[in-house]
Amino acid sequence: MGRTYNIVSIPGDGIGPETNGAAVRVLEAVSEKYGFEPRITEYKAGGCAIDAYGVPLPGETLQACLDSDAVLLGAVGGPRWDMIEAERRPEQAILGLRKGMHLYANLRPATLMKELGDVSPLKNPGNIDLLIVRELTGGIYFGKQGAYKSTEKLFDGTRKGTVAFDTETYSEAEIERIIRRGFEFALKRSKKLTLVDKANVLSTSRLWRQIARTLSEEYPEVALDFLYVDNCSMQLVSRPASFDVIVTSNMFGDILSDLAGQITGSVGLLPSASLGNPGMPGLFEPIHGSAPDIAGQNKANPIASILSVQLMLKLHLGEKDAADSILEAVRKTLADGARTPDIAVHGDGDAKKITLVTTEEMTDRIVANLE
Ligand code: IPM
Ligand code: MG
Repeated sequence: MGRTYNIVSIPGDGIGPETNGAAVRVLEAVSEKYGFEPRITEYKAGGCAIDAYGVPLPGETLQACLDSDAVLLGAVGGPRWDMIEAERRPEQAILGLRKGMHLYANLRPATLMKELGDVSPLKNPGNIDLLIVRELTGGIYFGKQGAYKSTEKLFDGTRKGTVAFDTETYSEAEIERIIRRGFEFALKRSKKLTLVDKANVLSTSRLWRQIARTLSEEYPEVALDFLYVDNCSMQLVSRPASFDVIVTSNMFGDILSDLAGQITGSVGLLPSASLGNPGMPGLFEPIHGSAPDIAGQNKANPIASILSVQLMLKLHLGEKDAADSILEAVRKTLADGARTPDIAVHGDGDAKKITLVTTEEMTDRIVANLE
């Protein structure tokens, strides 16, 4: 066979093994139809790696990811590991992978699928089709942090006690490369780029604005505008369809993408792609977490993971036809009425008859609908 790709699969914790398992099944099925070969090897990261090796991100997992063409990640974390000290929490696996693989560009598309009808909790959502371009290896997630005992007092004499701090830090180079990605995507879409920040308060945000203005001279076709993050949250609810590409910092992108997930139906639907420079391996994962409350119950929505495979094929491996086939299969399956519990709560869309399905049944149907 001609096209071979080395894929690292990291199921992780909670619903991760279920949703990632669904994604792997779809990848294998679509590859047979489109004549390429994914060589999939599984590695541990997150809570299960803490149990097995005592660390959330074993060196051999990171090395395998660096040596791969692409990584497919489920989810990490859960209450079992919540009491562990910060450096060994399961979430460190994701952060370590992002940093260690230099995945600074996180793409989180959010589209309201007409097949899902009035699944959006908004009354008049309109045609939501936006892309959040989130900076992923800088900002407050990776700035200096710590805690210390203070001898200072508040104005009324109360002792401050322990003080903890996190620092938002961004360099010109980090900002420039992510905003450039924003402009490039805007060029391919409807030529509208919104920089979301908090420039009325934060100096990092002011640097983002300055760099965006300078770069916009290189992209005269793209209309650039600016929005404070608080205002943006409001506008995403009141006029979501007017957004196209949003570029923003690590923390703001984290928050806004959950909002974008909810207004398009469920966080269980949203995929993401994390990319570095061209030619470097990418990582593909749903935006949702490990959902310990429904783990192991065959209830999780596998679509965010399955669409993460679609992004991997489209944006990263150049298997566009296979990617389109996955998207079509997902849409057809939803139009036929299959619903996991998270998307069964609202409307019924184009579907004639709604059927509540398990994670596995949803995956079976999507696989059967691949053309
Ligand atoms: C996400 C998640 C992660 C983040 C957590 C699990 C560290 O919420 O990918 O959005 O904050 O980036
Ligand atoms: Mg998040």
